[in-house]
Amino acid sequence: MAKNILTEENFKKLHNVIEQYKHIQGPLMPVLNEAQVIFGAIPYEVQKTISEALNIPLAEIYGVVTFYSQFTLEPKGDYLIAVCLGTACYVKGAQKLLDQIVTRLGVKVGETSPDGRYSVEATRCIGACGLAPVLTVNNAVYGRLVEGDIQGILEKYSKTAEEVSA
Ligand code: FES
Repeated sequence: MAKNILTEENFKKLHNVIEQYKHIQGPLMPVLNEAQVIFGAIPYEVQKTISEALNIPLAEIYGVVTFYSQFTLEPKGDYLIAVCLGTACYVKGAQKLLDQIVTRLGVKVGETSPDGRYSVEATRCIGACGLAPVLTVNNAVYGRLVEGDIQGILEKYSKTAEEVSA
């Protein structure tokens, strides 16, 4: 089941943040930054609350949230699997790795699995071209990959963060 991020407690924190910034000039960016941390994303309900509290049109907030890559509309999974599709990785078969991950997990690029475990992304060059093709899972980097490596990598992350710490 997807994590419920829209808790009363999170909205309470958001209101405190809004109180803190609402009198400064240009309160939107600091409020959005904090909202991303509190909720792990800035979905519609959060945008609406901020819009009403700061008296900023919803469309403007939506525009900012979708423009800056540090903001997301949906929470990311416990494991963010990002396959580099930069030129060096692409010519070494990164697309095939990505296709395999999508097929194995049943999660489309840019989406998160319904259980909140995995998000899959394609990225631009991450500066590790010498290791092409490269993918990252959260902060771990895997390089010089061949298609046969994918199963083992995914198995490593087959437990949720909660199961690992339990
Ligand atoms: S192209 Fe993939 S790391 Fe540079």
